[in-house]
Amino acid sequence: MLAGAYMEDKHEIIVIGHRGASGYRPEHTLMSYELAIQQGVDFIEPDLVLTKDGKLVARHDMYLSGSTDVSSRPEFAAKKRTLEGHTDWFAQDFTLDEIETLKTVQPRLTRGQMYDGMEPIPTLEDIVTLLKQHQKQGKAVGVYIELKHPSIMEAIVPDIAEKLAVELNSIQKMGFPVYFQCFDADFLLKISSYTSVPLIYLVEGKPDADGHYYLNEDLSHYFGKFAGFGLYKALLINKDGSLNNVVDTIHNGGGLVHVWTVRDDNVPKMFNSVQQEVKFLFEAGVDGIFTDFPDTAIAARESK
Ligand code: G3P
Ligand code: CA
Repeated sequence: MLAGAYMEDKHEIIVIGHRGASGYRPEHTLMSYELAIQQGVDFIEPDLVLTKDGKLVARHDMYLSGSTDVSSRPEFAAKKRTLEGHTDWFAQDFTLDEIETLKTVQPRLTRGQMYDGMEPIPTLEDIVTLLKQHQKQGKAVGVYIELKHPSIMEAIVPDIAEKLAVELNSIQKMGFPVYFQCFDADFLLKISSYTSVPLIYLVEGKPDADGHYYLNEDLSHYFGKFAGFGLYKALLINKDGSLNNVVDTIHNGGGLVHVWTVRDDNVPKMFNSVQQEVKFLFEAGVDGIFTDFPDTAIAARESK
């Protein structure tokens, strides 16, 4: 394993609370991260975007309509616009003061709306404060940060790689385990000049004509450069449902394999439940799992 990778210390698969415990609470809220911590995660996973005034806040992406009440806020009606073919309200058009007035909602309707309108959008600083509260209680929960749309974020804050690295280094110095993940390998290479926090390259692959995902790039190019890879879980499975050798290949190259995302609405047909899928992934030898249902993954890990 590479230096800085937490598997060395824990000797077990890490469970990452994807957007918190987002199967149970609106994603990327302090209440969602809090529940994930209560359920026993090793890491909480904030996706970060920038506001107009350059502050880092937790949203899955810069589009605000799906996960907040922005569309019902008349004072922000004029901010709706089209960017790169997508019409929405964009995080980067809001100052921190403005964005903090929004209330979060559950984007997946099947999960219930009982917590809608209750929570604000947290800043990275709010998230670190939450971790510190738990640190006092003896729980060293880590933070597994993703920067969304790095090239668009660089248009807002040109030296975002350097600035974000300062944040990552500072959180690590406080004693919290930290990973940084990104879909953009060039951004990861850039940030690697400023931080020794382990870096995870997110890889989705591509679907073929039948919808089967395959790896469309040579990951060995990054062996030794990144701590590991955050793979879309479908990349582990051949067309006939059997396991392929991607996990072994990455391990042989010295990297970690973290897979995303285990949740209730995308369980492959070959499994009957989230629990069964988690067990399969554990047996496939992955080093970490991103899941909206951390309690299920932790229960499966404990029963191993
Ligand atoms: O970061 C791993 C996984 O979260 C990537 O997918 O779209 O949920 O950020 P997404
Ligand atoms: Ca993510």
